[in-house]
Amino acid sequence: MSELSTAITMSGGAEIPRYGYGTFKIDDDRAQAAVETALATGYRLVDTAVGYQNEVGVGRAIAASGLKREDVFLTSKTWDHGYDEVRRNLRESLERLGTDYLDLYLLHWPRPAVDKYVESFQALLDARAEGLIRSAGVSNFTIEHLARVESETGAAPELNQVELHPYFSQPELRAYHDEHGIVTESWGPLALRGGGLFDEPVVQAVAEARGRTVAQVVLRWNLQRGNVVIPKSETPERIRENWEVLDFALTDEDLAKIDALDTGNRQGGDPLDVN
Ligand SMILES: NC(=O)c1ccc[n+]([C@@H]2O[C@H](COP(=O)([O-])OP(=O)(O)OC[C@H]3O[C@@H](n4cnc5c(N)ncnc54)[C@H](OP(=O)(O)O)[C@@H]3O)[C@@H](O)[C@H]2O)c1
Repeated sequence: MSELSTAITMSGGAEIPRYGYGTFKIDDDRAQAAVETALATGYRLVDTAVGYQNEVGVGRAIAASGLKREDVFLTSKTWDHGYDEVRRNLRESLERLGTDYLDLYLLHWPRPAVDKYVESFQALLDARAEGLIRSAGVSNFTIEHLARVESETGAAPELNQVELHPYFSQPELRAYHDEHGIVTESWGPLALRGGGLFDEPVVQAVAEARGRTVAQVVLRWNLQRGNVVIPKSETPERIRENWEVLDFALTDEDLAKIDALDTGNRQGGDPLDVN
């Protein structure tokens, strides 16, 4: 597959770029510079969250970039659950980001022990109807959570942002997404730079054969598996390195070798435990 579409149309009709920039662990005072570098490099999707505490810096970077608001796809997430709490969180995020709409708003985690994710998602659907957000999604939802949301609200989330990298490629969840028209977005696409993925001989061999870095190969694998991918780096050289993944392709054989690294083990939090 040498050509990738640059955007995917979600079930609500909005388009999401295939590739974007993550901002977890970038503090507010450093977020403006990092996001400005990403936007200058070419990224047009920026992923933030209330919990990252950097929405002010992200908003300033977009304003300073000279880009039109509609040329940047902006995602944020609410940690709080409950209909009114989600509505309040959204208003506050819009204010911090200095914008009057989000392209995508997500419930950050299902928080099953709180058991309010259905009414929380209903708040997103209503915000979408009012034009405050262009698309309504979730993050870290399991098949069970997705099925319940769809059966109780009548609408499947447009997108589910989940941990997804070669060690944890989530084939069952991705198949469910495909059946229900849910876009898969991969967080931690570099396995949070953990678990030894960068030292895997298979990945190193593919990188050498394609004349690319290990990070580029891992990110390209994720894109060719059909996902929206949002790597994070605060390092300008790596921000640029990670952007250079759209002009080469892995072969089916490369993809299969990397698929075989799946251990089924997460590097990050478990959706059933995070509350
Ligand atoms: N929904 C959720 O629950 C959730 C959870 C986690 C993350 N996310 C989102 O997904 C984004 C990406 O996930 P992530 O930040 O956890 O992990 P990641 O993108 O897999 O990895 C980030 C780490 O890799 C390093 N790195 C980046 N590019 C590199 C390169 N080319 N070579 C070597 N090291 C490199 C970064 O270091 P430097 O920054 O020092 O360069 C950082 O330590 C987040 O920023 C966030 O927007 C969402």
